Amino acid sequence: METEIAKIDGSVPTREIFERAGQIIRDGGLVAFPTETVYGLGGNAFDPEASARIYAAKGRPSDNPLIVHISDLSQLESVALEVPETARRLAETFWPGPMTLILPKRPEVPDATTGGLQTVAVRFPSHPAARALIDAAGVPIAAPSANLSGRPSPTSAEHVAEDLTGRVAMILDGGPCSIGLESTIIDCTSDEPVILRPGYILPEQVEELVGSVELDRVVTADSAEEAAVPEGPKAPGMKYRHYAPSAPLKLFEGEREAVVKRIIALARGSMDAGQKVGVLCSEETRGSYQVALSGGLPSAAVRSFGSVSEPEQAAASLFALLREMDAEGVCVIYAETLPEEGLGASVMNRLKKAAGFDIEHVRSAEPKAVVKTGFPFSDVIFADRGNTTYSVICESIAAFLCRGSGIAVHSRGTSVLFSEPVNEKAVRILADHGLRPARAETKLLESKDISETTLILTSDESVKRKILRTFPEANFVLTVAEFAGESEGPDMPAGGREQYEALYQDLLRLLTKAAGRMLDDRAEREETDGENV
Ligand code: TXA
Ligand code: MG
Repeated sequence: METEIAKIDGSVPTREIFERAGQIIRDGGLVAFPTETVYGLGGNAFDPEASARIYAAKGRPSDNPLIVHISDLSQLESVALEVPETARRLAETFWPGPMTLILPKRPEVPDATTGGLQTVAVRFPSHPAARALIDAAGVPIAAPSANLSGRPSPTSAEHVAEDLTGRVAMILDGGPCSIGLESTIIDCTSDEPVILRPGYILPEQVEELVGSVELDRVVTADSAEEAAVPEGPKAPGMKYRHYAPSAPLKLFEGEREAVVKRIIALARGSMDAGQKVGVLCSEETRGSYQVALSGGLPSAAVRSFGSVSEPEQAAASLFALLREMDAEGVCVIYAETLPEEGLGASVMNRLKKAAGFDIEHVRSAEPKAVVKTGFPFSDVIFADRGNTTYSVICESIAAFLCRGSGIAVHSRGTSVLFSEPVNEKAVRILADHGLRPARAETKLLESKDISETTLILTSDESVKRKILRTFPEANFVLTVAEFAGESEGPDMPAGGREQYEALYQDLLRLLTKAAGRMLDDRAEREETDGENV
């Protein structure tokens, strides 16, 4: 099959092009087209043979359903059997745009399009060329991302041509996609909307609009095992290895300087072994790699995904960079990570999948650890009532801050009747920040936990008073806030992810201050020691 590449960037009159493209779709053929997220590979959504051609062209398993694209809200009824209130509000707010809704399907949508599911994924894109194509075709257009199965999604017509030349009748070239990550998929078939794939539309935005939102396990997973749900993921596409470049991709997270050092060391090792190396990094660190890895043979391909503080840049460039790495013929790719906040979390979802969850947590070479000398305590216990949330977050952060210091860090509750798993949301927030929860189950504070050199830091005044009443042997009991030199500590979160994130940030700040105090103690001691000599 010949593939025509038609520019629709305004340099030529396009009406005739869209008329021909619409005709190809009506005749059961395939047209690749730009959207604001990634390029799509489109066919008539009502035509099972067109869907079969899409699967064949992509080399994609046919149990992986397609997204049906519409160009007007009124078309929604032609593919969805019902549109719950929540879905309607999401549609009215975020459409046209980078969001896909899962809804019960009408019988007219063939099984071939939905991979046999009784639900249909619907999206109303904002890109004018996508809308013009759907209008010209006169039917909703089923379209997956226009890449060969397993390759990174295409964000330019060149990427589509790389993968699909000879497999589609026409590629509409609208230049690079502005967003660069596939749409946010929201399952609206149960009471609470569930995000099946994170994207440009963020959980925070959905929550603000409709009150609550869940994140599917495959979204929050930090390992291939966690992502592997026994009954299969809700978005079947999430189970396939995705977005992957040919070369192995390894991610490094941790303190910036330590990560740069580690990647440079590994890259030099690979280069010495004659391997061509790719490095994906932030704009802030690119210079360091270029200097450290210049002059090597084979040379290293160092590419920046933009500033760490602007995840939009990483979203827009990630897939193109992964393809570039392939084109450069690198043997291995070492990549920095982004903070998993806002759009950064969506970018990291794709990057982790592309890496098959190969992530190294780099320890700082010279950790700014609290050293025991000046600090008169051998151990610190964080205490609250239930030992489910506050004290666990404190323990996990403090254990990290105090690593290598010789100070033992624990957490306990004053009202634990029996052990139970710690708060799952707390675990999730810690994981979001690359921290392992220090404990899995709650534990009661007992007198055997307390020695003469134990410092107990409590969540609030009432826990502090209870401990002072119950344990006469406890000599040092302060609230966390007091110890950090502040008048008030944070409140317990009421429930939402944002509130847990806020609690984490507050505690991180308090504990960093607290750890700073320990260091100051030490510095003072050393100074006076110096004078005495
Ligand atoms: O931004 C996008 O969404 C792009 C552009 C072209 O619109 N499309 C795209 O399609 O990314 P694709 O096929 O690469 O990804 C569609 C995802 C797959 O993970 C698929 O399993 C899921 O949507 N999906 C489709 N229909 C579904 C359904 N009825 N229930 C659950 N998941 C569904
Ligand atoms: Mg895809």
